[in-house]
Amino acid sequence: MQQPHRAIAQAGINVALIKYWGKRDAELNLPAVSSLSLTLDAPGTRTEVIFDSALSHHQFQLNGVEADAGRVQPILDAVRQHAGSHGIPLPHARVNSENTVPTAAGLASSASGFAALVAAAWAAAGLDPEDPHKAELTRIGSGSAPRSLLGGFVVLDKVEGQIRQIATPEAWPLRMVLCLTEKGPKKISSRVGMESSARTSPYFASWVSSHEADMQAAEAAINARDLDTLGEMMEHSTLKMHACMMAGRPPLIYWRSATLAAMEQVHQLREQGVSAWYTMDAGPHVKVLCAAEDAEHIASTLKAVPGVSEVLVAAPGPGAQVETC
Ligand code: DP6
Repeated sequence: MQQPHRAIAQAGINVALIKYWGKRDAELNLPAVSSLSLTLDAPGTRTEVIFDSALSHHQFQLNGVEADAGRVQPILDAVRQHAGSHGIPLPHARVNSENTVPTAAGLASSASGFAALVAAAWAAAGLDPEDPHKAELTRIGSGSAPRSLLGGFVVLDKVEGQIRQIATPEAWPLRMVLCLTEKGPKKISSRVGMESSARTSPYFASWVSSHEADMQAAEAAINARDLDTLGEMMEHSTLKMHACMMAGRPPLIYWRSATLAAMEQVHQLREQGVSAWYTMDAGPHVKVLCAAEDAEHIASTLKAVPGVSEVLVAAPGPGAQVETC
């Protein structure tokens, strides 16, 4: 019997500093806007992929529990097709995934999940790790996921959907303080929310047309290691995105009272001279960007905010990494 192809990969979550919201091609999952993110060292996803000729269909285990293989099937089949076109026939796969991110709670578990899945499947298939198709296939899973393939500060370009690193994780010792406010999956997925915003929000067109200037200002701030400017651009991008969602029909409001309380606390920290800046994705959690030396103080201040259940401090981290098996 043919030897199973096996690999394990690990990927961290990424948090968008300049957001992706909206698609210009739903089938290819191409974004309407570029985005700029920071990949974190933790939490994340560790995934094992075994292509095994003894299997008659794909199998998927998530955190030790049998899960719907339909969630990994499009990616696995796309990798098999790509490998096949390179003369590498692959059987079905067993996928074992461990998430240290609260799944589907707006903490980008899908990004680390799909990045780890593709990196492991790609390595198990013996494909070229530098092949640009890798980012394309990752995007099928989730538009924000290709950003977790690379470490540090990453731009995902809307034109080709390609990714590039603009600064390594070591280049700037920042921290992201993750304030979790509410457990459990979100009610409306990003995919559904984006479609609704594009169709019904009167602010969607200006969200798209004003976006490129934010990308340029944020990239310049990263190159200049200017936290106050980067933080201001990050808050501007998140507030514009949420304003766009809220103005849709029906309105999309991912915030909870704890979200607003944490934002208010960040404003107060700034009044006290601490450079702390928030961003929120399609969920109620608040992520605060700051200098490494301020992270512990900010984390303990935010822990005391009513409704904040857990606070984690994350550093810039590497891109998806394959462990040798
Ligand atoms: C608000 O990548 O989850 O987190 O491409 O439809 O899977 P799909 O969406 P997804 O959207 C992430 C949106 C966001 C902002 C961001 O991460 O840029």
